[in-house]
Amino acid sequence: MSAPLLLVPGPVPLHPQVAEELAKPALPHYGDAWVKAYGEALELLRYTWEAPKARHFPVVGPGHAGLEALAHTFLRRGDRVVVIENGFFGERAAEVLRAHHVDVDPVASTWGAGPDVDRLRLALRRPAKAVVMVHNETSTGVTSPLEPIVEVAHERDAFVLVDAVSSFGGLPLPFDRLGIDGAFAASQKCLAAPAGIAPVAVAGSLWESVRPEDVEGWYFNLFTWDRFAREWAEWHPTPTTVSSNLFYAFARALHLVKEEGLPGRVARHAKMAKRLRDELSRRGFPPVAPPDLVSNTVACVTVPRAVDPSALVRRLRDEHNTYISGGLGSLRGKTIRVGTMGTQAQPDIIDRFLGALDACL
Ligand SMILES: Cc1ncc(COP(=O)(O)O)c(C=O)c1O
Repeated sequence: MSAPLLLVPGPVPLHPQVAEELAKPALPHYGDAWVKAYGEALELLRYTWEAPKARHFPVVGPGHAGLEALAHTFLRRGDRVVVIENGFFGERAAEVLRAHHVDVDPVASTWGAGPDVDRLRLALRRPAKAVVMVHNETSTGVTSPLEPIVEVAHERDAFVLVDAVSSFGGLPLPFDRLGIDGAFAASQKCLAAPAGIAPVAVAGSLWESVRPEDVEGWYFNLFTWDRFAREWAEWHPTPTTVSSNLFYAFARALHLVKEEGLPGRVARHAKMAKRLRDELSRRGFPPVAPPDLVSNTVACVTVPRAVDPSALVRRLRDEHNTYISGGLGSLRGKTIRVGTMGTQAQPDIIDRFLGALDACL
């Protein structure tokens, strides 16, 4: 059987050069070659986050591991944290933080809308340690502007922690320039690497806000990662074993970002997402997001009245070997979601999908 057309909003198909790294014989996660590759990957993370000043940690785990690491290292039981909820992943961030016994104060807006900045301002009349937001809501196809959130939060001395899982490497995200304090992403989305590495970026402001001796735990404690990166820099810069295949595949994906160049990569995502959206709209599948917030990495669209979204997702899979996603949470049964991330953002891929879609309509 030919390879499936994988258009879910992550994971996405691996670039052949990335897949090649996975097929190579395993190598040790220490020694000269490893240290060199690790250093190069950190340099490429600085490039991709546009964050030469930040500290970078390729935490081994899914995207959520990045959030756990930030929460574990920088938040404490009882800290008040305002979480912007305008979709499934905002609600998920709140769930994760509550599991850390953080006092979560949600600022909710309708799914499909952007953050409610006025309500955020009101919520921040009471002191809060941090504001947590999702940059690109994969559940609704909304990209939220970062600038106003950072501005309002910093006026009230709250840190800003950003879920950049479905935007990192695909949408503009100048971490240093925007003054973001901490952010996490995932390898399986716009980077088009295998799932399993959560790039975490931490600004000096956040790093210096806690004393290492006050942080409990070990693996999700970023001070552990920092200590190994310094004390074992010459041979073993991570605290634990890392799959060499996974890491070299991740590093290769980062090299591909640099080779393409961030501006070109962002422009490609924008162009391909528009191509897909225009064609979907023509067929009666308009985006849920308003035009000024519409995402360039995932199209979340409503379906014509005569179409059952779940049946459509199934038919595409069973009859055309084509994978897209249905709606999540309150948009379940109402929307479909199609990714244009990394390797998916190519004209021939989008046209093949549209051909399969037309055959189902
Ligand atoms: C915006 C967003 N945040 C968080 C996650 C969770 O990522 P992971 O499943 O890698 O932990 C996802 C996954 O789709 C996502 O889209």
